[in-house]
Amino acid sequence: MTIDTIQIDVQPVEKSKLEDADLANLPFGKVFSDHMLVAEYKEGQWASCKIVPYTNLNLSPALCTLHYGQTIFEGLKAYKNDKGEALVFRPYDNYQRMLKSAERMCMPAVPEEIFIGGIRQLLTLDHGWIPTHQGASLYIRPFMFGADEFIGIRPSDTYKFIIFTCPVGAYYTEPVNVKIETEYTRAFPGGIGSAKTAGNYAASLYPARINQEKGYHQLIWTDGIEHKYIEEAGTMNIMFRKGNQIFTPNPSDTILNGITRRSVVQLAKDWGYDVQERPVEVQEVIDLLKKNELDEAFGAGTAATIAHIIRIHHKGVDYELPPVSQRTFSNKVLKTLDDIKYGRIADPHGWIMHI
Ligand SMILES: Cc1ncc(COP(=O)(O)O)c(C=O)c1O
Repeated sequence: MTIDTIQIDVQPVEKSKLEDADLANLPFGKVFSDHMLVAEYKEGQWASCKIVPYTNLNLSPALCTLHYGQTIFEGLKAYKNDKGEALVFRPYDNYQRMLKSAERMCMPAVPEEIFIGGIRQLLTLDHGWIPTHQGASLYIRPFMFGADEFIGIRPSDTYKFIIFTCPVGAYYTEPVNVKIETEYTRAFPGGIGSAKTAGNYAASLYPARINQEKGYHQLIWTDGIEHKYIEEAGTMNIMFRKGNQIFTPNPSDTILNGITRRSVVQLAKDWGYDVQERPVEVQEVIDLLKKNELDEAFGAGTAATIAHIIRIHHKGVDYELPPVSQRTFSNKVLKTLDDIKYGRIADPHGWIMHI
């Protein structure tokens, strides 16, 4: 099989688990639909690709990825419109980002037929797993890892690429309380911060945990050299509004270039806001907070779409932001994105892939 002639073999489940699943009460990321796609790369090419019943993997204890972390992933969502059709939000953008992550992590490019074609076939088979109640969706998790049974530091020669899906309910929608982190760092210049790879998330676990114990939902990450510039909020991009200005850190090699972030930037430009993608200093945000001139701050990411930030902690002081009910921009952008994703309004930028 070569990249030009990829065929996805399908082995459907004998009995669906769907009738035992409670799609109206879904914990995030714990319920998995019937099928998964598994593709294998060896001897310099994608050697097989199949859709099989969702099941455990059989892995060697010497699997290189378990030790050295050569693994990348993506996260995107499918929704159902009123006619029951499946709509996927910006899958080609996730595909392009996965190619970039793969390059940074010395991994092979996944062919479009496997990534996009695989999502199409999986969603056709598991259409019934896309929930229909308000705020719910089917989370799609493509990922790839080095599959060599090998102890030593070098890129793997063999890889597995897998896609599975999970029906998920509306994400935690309470406004979040965050702390600007000035000791620990998520990503460094020249490092892997702009790749969607496991090491970045592993690095964030300890600082996130000690601060959750102090009552902060998330950390605002700052640059690893001076802790002077704002980078991201937890596992989301961060955006601010002051009057007609929307400002957000520009993508760099320490920031994951989010697809939600790009969608918000596009809508803000469509609506005539002065959108600034540029370095954002911690001090600039603190000065605005002190003068009560920061109208909105929010995280942007696939899981929550928009997470309103209600309080920001910095160096011993808690700064309150205006109530969520007054947030003209982020409430409007959240509603518009939801309306596009659920097919309730026109899709002016061609973001939706119909299955
Ligand atoms: C570190 C990080 N930043 C930002 C984002 C937001 O990206 P997206 O909007 O593509 O989900 C994510 C989530 O994928 C993330 O893990």
